Amino acid sequence: MKDTRRLYTDLAWVWPMWGDAAVEYARYCRHVTGLIRRHAKRPVRTLLDIGCGGGKNVLNLKREFNVTGVDLSSAMLAQAKALNPECAFIRGDMRTFKLGSAFDAVLMDDAISHMSCLADFAAAFRTAHAHLHRGGVLVATPDVTTETFRQNRTTVTPAAPGSAPAGVEVVFIENTYDPDPADEQYETTVVYLIRDGGRLRIETDRWTMGIFSPDTWRRVLREAGFEVHEGRYVAGGDAYTVFTCVRTR
Ligand SMILES: C[S@@+](CC[C@H](N)C(=O)[O-])C[C@H]1O[C@@H](n2cnc3c(N)ncnc32)[C@H](O)[C@@H]1O
Repeated sequence: MKDTRRLYTDLAWVWPMWGDAAVEYARYCRHVTGLIRRHAKRPVRTLLDIGCGGGKNVLNLKREFNVTGVDLSSAMLAQAKALNPECAFIRGDMRTFKLGSAFDAVLMDDAISHMSCLADFAAAFRTAHAHLHRGGVLVATPDVTTETFRQNRTTVTPAAPGSAPAGVEVVFIENTYDPDPADEQYETTVVYLIRDGGRLRIETDRWTMGIFSPDTWRRVLREAGFEVHEGRYVAGGDAYTVFTCVRTR
């Protein structure tokens, strides 16, 4: 099925401008590394980044681990490879891919929020489990859970300093909205203000995302074969729930 998310297809070129890889991503990756080192029941040398996108997490995690990335989007994988030429990147759908190999750690960052129904959500964790050695650690950080979601949260983010090509300016406006809090989905709408040589283009993107309660997270992760630990990561005034999961069986 065709991917209609423009950030991962025709507008993927703006992704390197959204967030500073050397600052925000570096801080988050230090947090992830600490969780992995604290919870692992085996030496951790290899890490699989599922939904690696443009490879900003890979850029930071490769200092600590031998990193492989998987993503659905060829455009995002091309960026990840350009940023991290020494790492392996593979195209795959987190609900179904089978690499035939296992890793000491797995990261599922914001990409897990694209699992917009319970069946897909559970399938993604079975994939993570199948690619992890026993005693290895999965770190999963959803954009939101039902506890952290904020109706009509709207952010305005200019391109990270020095990230835009000459003559180009980009501003990202992101809004989250849940039309029916009783179901498993919410909407993310992104408006891109792109000025190229002073001429304004306004582009839009609309994604259906998944939202689950912490209880559902715990149950699905345990059913997949993980021991579950929960924590918080605070960034830019937002608190994210982080699930650190040890493969026990
Ligand atoms: C916001 S980006 C992740 C960015 C990444 N954290 C980074 O370091 O650059 C979300 C990614 O999830 C990927 N994605 C969405 N659905 C997916 C699926 N079913 N399987 C694999 N990747 C998926 C998209 O292609 C996109 O690259």
